[in-house]
Amino acid sequence: MPGKVYIVGAGPGDPGLLTLKAIRAIEEADVILYDKLVGDEIIEMIKKMNKKLVYAGKRSCEDGAIRQKEINELMKKYALEGKVVVRLKGGDPFVFGRGGVEAEFLVRENIPFEIIPGVSSINSVPAYAGIPLTHPELSSSILVVTGRDDIEAWKRTPLHGTIVILMGRDTLADICNKLIEAGRDPSTPVAVIEKGTTREQKVIVGNLKNIVKKVREAKIKGATLIVVGEVVRFSNILNGRPQKI
Ligand SMILES: C[S@@+](CC[C@H](N)C(=O)[O-])C[C@H]1O[C@@H](n2cnc3c(N)ncnc32)[C@H](O)[C@@H]1O
Repeated sequence: MPGKVYIVGAGPGDPGLLTLKAIRAIEEADVILYDKLVGDEIIEMIKKMNKKLVYAGKRSCEDGAIRQKEINELMKKYALEGKVVVRLKGGDPFVFGRGGVEAEFLVRENIPFEIIPGVSSINSVPAYAGIPLTHPELSSSILVVTGRDDIEAWKRTPLHGTIVILMGRDTLADICNKLIEAGRDPSTPVAVIEKGTTREQKVIVGNLKNIVKKVREAKIKGATLIVVGEVVRFSNILNGRPQKI
């Protein structure tokens, strides 16, 4: 009899944002296959639980499709040994997380599985930086995109309101230029949040014209989420403190 795989969202980094269901699945698991973006403090917590921990994230300069096959085979191997496997992913597994791809694989292989959603970086990282994504007077829409997309494609969607950009650290300059070309005011506020919700969180605030320089000076290297829109003005007042807005 195969075991079971839980595809679990670990949240954005702060262990306090793990769900009760995630914690129960981790407690039940024999093996944890974890991604690069799972918070260090969460990994430290699991190490103390004496679980088998296996890194199953991307390695630099590696073909994503090949790595994904290896990860699928790892889930299958442990499940066929009758083990309870937690496939632990940063944020929510179904938000730019390939959770759907892994679930499809488990369906094909007839391996029992369950999805445990997680707190996505999309909303939690801005919240820890004091930024509400909507506001009755400032923004009534949220566009979520990745900085790896063809930015031209965004123009097919409304570019007013709040824009949340994942994986956009390395294309920030292009993103800012294209948004100005598309009609956003160059003074539109931008927040760049590195390692949000963790002890190492850094929040850099600027506008479409000057944010690139500020980010370069701050030497941002870790996971980065970008928020564009008037709502970023809140971070000046609430920077670094969870909610209470
Ligand atoms: C492959 S996507 C995974 C998103 C994840 N599934 C989620 O729901 O948050 C990785 C990107 O999410 C963003 N991200 C995730 N955690 C973050 C954090 N703690 N701080 C800043 N950005 C984060 C970054 O843009 C990062 O490059």
